Amino acid sequence: MIPPFRLHAPFLSPQDTEQISWYPRGAMVVNEHGRIAWHGDAENLPGEFLPLPSVHSENIMLPGLVDAHVHYPQLDCRGQYGNSLLEWLDRSIYPEEARFTQAGIARDTARRFFSALLSAGTTTAMVYGTIHEAATDIAFEEAERSGMRIILGKMLMDREAPAALLEPADEGLAATERLIRKWHKKTHRLFYAVSPRFAISCSPSLLQGAAALATRYDTYVQTHCNESIEEVARVMILFPEATHYTDVYARSGLLTSRTVLGHNIHCDDAQLRQLRSHDCAVAHCPDANLFLGSGRFPLEAHQQHGLRIALGSDVGAGTTLSMFHVMHSMSHVQGRSLDPRIPLYHATLGAATALGLQEEIGSFRIGKQADITETCVPRHYCHGRTLEHLSALDVASTIVYRSADLRAGRVWISGEQLNPPPST
Ligand code: GUN
Ligand code: ZN
Repeated sequence: MIPPFRLHAPFLSPQDTEQISWYPRGAMVVNEHGRIAWHGDAENLPGEFLPLPSVHSENIMLPGLVDAHVHYPQLDCRGQYGNSLLEWLDRSIYPEEARFTQAGIARDTARRFFSALLSAGTTTAMVYGTIHEAATDIAFEEAERSGMRIILGKMLMDREAPAALLEPADEGLAATERLIRKWHKKTHRLFYAVSPRFAISCSPSLLQGAAALATRYDTYVQTHCNESIEEVARVMILFPEATHYTDVYARSGLLTSRTVLGHNIHCDDAQLRQLRSHDCAVAHCPDANLFLGSGRFPLEAHQQHGLRIALGSDVGAGTTLSMFHVMHSMSHVQGRSLDPRIPLYHATLGAATALGLQEEIGSFRIGKQADITETCVPRHYCHGRTLEHLSALDVASTIVYRSADLRAGRVWISGEQLNPPPST
């Protein structure tokens, strides 16, 4: 159905870091621009909206899920045992990414990737490509075709990887600039992320050139940081003048309010202070951290320093694109049962805030884009209750902790139903 329309369903949405709204018999009006014109309890729906066509569902509607760290070329590498980060990169990931010189592989993988993201209920994602300009161009074409909100970039690497994945810094930067000019903000759903892979595979001049491009074109920056102990040790050998890992990026000019650092597990207060002072965001990827045995993300320390945190699947170190599973993993990594509203926040409004998109997406508020993920939930709950008898906390708990039994249904982006495609 094309907007405007009204949607009648149970709605769950974070309001801010602590509050969550729950309308078991809710309604939402989506206007002709794909934005939320009204939202609340269905019995309070103003009469002026009644003539609009309506959609009804018994499934819970969540704000469109956000995956803030994912690698499209690693889609088919999920679950390839690799012992630890650097070994796994050498054994599984670099050989796979080297195949993306072939346009056919890039096209097929990107198409399946965006379709799988939508099927998982994700509406916005921040995505790494490979070093290949053509493959990244193809991925952008497929992102545009998918209708999703996508932040994407070509990987930058000029050392410490197989020769097939390296290119001189000036060539990588020139290709990046061409892609930025072509794709950054081409539509209101597409953005460019300058993407130096991590400090190990980038020379100081490549990092500096990357920062200059990001500043010049006001793009996002995405990179990896402090993921494993061996990685940190190697970085400190390669950059002896830096006081710690984040200092490498600070000295290059890569720390900005549009920078999203993946992982950031092995960090201390000085690094967290530095990231906060540059207003950087962190993508926490718990499922990937469990898979590679990278360590426990210091959640409290990040919270205490006031850092913006988004969740990411980090496929292919992450084993699934399901953000339901990633939310559950966030609790596993902490080794305790987290209040389920915390992971839910970091996969929706918290992630939107980390990406600077909080005025557009992440929660159900009048004026925001109607990005919605339908969540197919169980019909029976303990004590014989049905959905409408649950509290907001009970519902959040079901979504996070029964993740293995959940699947996404339809998704809408700016009020446009994208998955499954409308039958009419
Ligand atoms: N560090 C550098 N590259 C990668 C990657 O592809 N995946 C993960 N998880 N960490 C990285
Ligand atoms: Zn990653």
